[in-house]
Amino acid sequence: MCGIVGYIGKKESLPILIDGLKRLEYRGYDSAGIAIQNGAIQNYKSVGKIDQLEKKIKGIDLFGNLGIAHTRWATHGAPSEENAHPHCDCEGKIWIVHNGIIENYQKIKEELQIEGHVFASETDSEVVAHLIEKFYKGNLLEAVRLTLGEIIGAYSLVVFHKDEPGKMVAAKKGSPLVLGLADDGIIVASDVTAIIRQTRNVIYLEDGEIAFFENENFKILNFNNEEKEKETQKIEWSLEELEKKGYSHFMLKEIFEQPNCIIDSLRGRLIPSEGKAKLGGLDDDVKNLSEIDNLAMVSCGTAHYASLIGEYMLEEYADIPSKASVASEFRYRKQLLNKNTAVLALSQSGETADTLAAIVEANDKNIFTLGIVNTVGSSIARATKAGVYNHIGPEIAVASTKAFTSQVTILTLLTLFLGRMKNMSLATGERIIKELNKLPSQIEKILKNEDEIKRIAQKYYKVSNFAFLGRKYNYPVALEGALKLKEVSYIHAEGFESGEIKHGPLALIDENFPSFFIIPQDSVYEKNLSNVQEIKARGGKVIAIATEGDEEIEKIVDDVIYIPKTLEMLTPILSVIPLQLFAYYVACLNGRDVDKPRNLAKSVTVE
Ligand code: M6R
Repeated sequence: MCGIVGYIGKKESLPILIDGLKRLEYRGYDSAGIAIQNGAIQNYKSVGKIDQLEKKIKGIDLFGNLGIAHTRWATHGAPSEENAHPHCDCEGKIWIVHNGIIENYQKIKEELQIEGHVFASETDSEVVAHLIEKFYKGNLLEAVRLTLGEIIGAYSLVVFHKDEPGKMVAAKKGSPLVLGLADDGIIVASDVTAIIRQTRNVIYLEDGEIAFFENENFKILNFNNEEKEKETQKIEWSLEELEKKGYSHFMLKEIFEQPNCIIDSLRGRLIPSEGKAKLGGLDDDVKNLSEIDNLAMVSCGTAHYASLIGEYMLEEYADIPSKASVASEFRYRKQLLNKNTAVLALSQSGETADTLAAIVEANDKNIFTLGIVNTVGSSIARATKAGVYNHIGPEIAVASTKAFTSQVTILTLLTLFLGRMKNMSLATGERIIKELNKLPSQIEKILKNEDEIKRIAQKYYKVSNFAFLGRKYNYPVALEGALKLKEVSYIHAEGFESGEIKHGPLALIDENFPSFFIIPQDSVYEKNLSNVQEIKARGGKVIAIATEGDEEIEKIVDDVIYIPKTLEMLTPILSVIPLQLFAYYVACLNGRDVDKPRNLAKSVTVE
């Protein structure tokens, strides 16, 4: 996730900026850069770690008490020096760092190019510098204000102008920004971790606010130029607590990030009036995609379970026969692929060796390859011909949580995209979009029920075996629930299609072998209900994930966790949340190393 640090004051800015960037490293990044004002502008960027940037500036006389710096986690354009921030206007006078996504950057960029602006990067962020240049008439603050009126999306920005020494402007909408008030100056950053070495007195900017700095003084305005009073707060947290945003583990933090991750994965990608999805990464390949008559999905672990949900969606709504395979199996099996097959890889890291190898093989056979990848510029992102990024920031805990719900969200977008090219009606497209937009608040509601899930974890955490059961769209969720539990708690857990239990697994069931049953009120509810009865009849305990308002289920099972009603195809995005939390709490109660479970790696780069 990108990080911003800026400094204006009496001290040398360089050490403060570098220290701030280092404090932001935990968020993940692929390149970094710095720009310092001292009459002239000194700007340095590098790909890779902050050490690389430090090596680059070693021995250079870099001084000045106003500067901005940035760690970039690529979204638009690969990790490279050109795409790293700070970015500047045509004349190298206006320097900006930006976090977030400018949704209408393409249109703005085209218009500015017609007006003669020359761009140096592929980023969405660079349009901000050029727009400010367009509006600049000797007053940076006013030019920034006019620019904010033009851009759509989420941003936090820090800007300075070569011709206005001792002045800096910051603005926020939808992406965090905080001011640190030190004795000798002000640090502005996307995250308080970058500030607390200098001061613990901070002011959080809110959406729609601009901060204008002049030497050590500042004022905060709204976008209409009206000054605002703001309260200073004292940060009491330790650095480690801050990195995890106060959560005890990254896994928990990432579970709680999911409402925002869904918003970020959907941002700028829906056309509600046409019931369609707009996927920039597929735009150049619409013809290829319209000719696809079957889809082979390749991935591993959690990403594979997301792709199994994709199978159901793509077949039901886009009429495309789809097959999801574990990447390590795909490669060693005869593949009946034809010129109308597309191979779709799903990967959070973009570096999973088996998934990458499957894509390389498909490329060798001239099969059209696509990716749903979270890490921009990763090997899989580069190896696939087209694709869609998740845009959810780095996932740090080994156990994948937010990547799963985002992958299912993107698969829904892909289903809309392909389905509307085929037989999906406008009404169906509109309905899916309406329900997609409800998901963030619905996830919030489930997360608010955390204490009940914790209570259930306390009841069962000493159990040695668990079954997870579901049908249709929620069978892959059963697999994912079992994987989460075994991965972080080391408790044996297995996922089954609920219709299959009577064909063998039922023999395992007794009072010491509980089952999680994902049983929303959907097209297979009645069938699932019979399977619940089969387990209860054998003395098995059942914890149900059920639809709000389903009072019948309470009478049959031992514990119930409710989820809001949504479209059947979208239930996995909700039903998985309690399972993630359950796995997390069981692991904590058993004293496990939640973020780094034994024997596992975050990115599996060996075959
Ligand atoms: O980075 P990827 O999405 O390609 O990773 C795939 C699997 O290694 C990953 O999902 C793994 O199963 C997780 N640890 C599950 O929580």
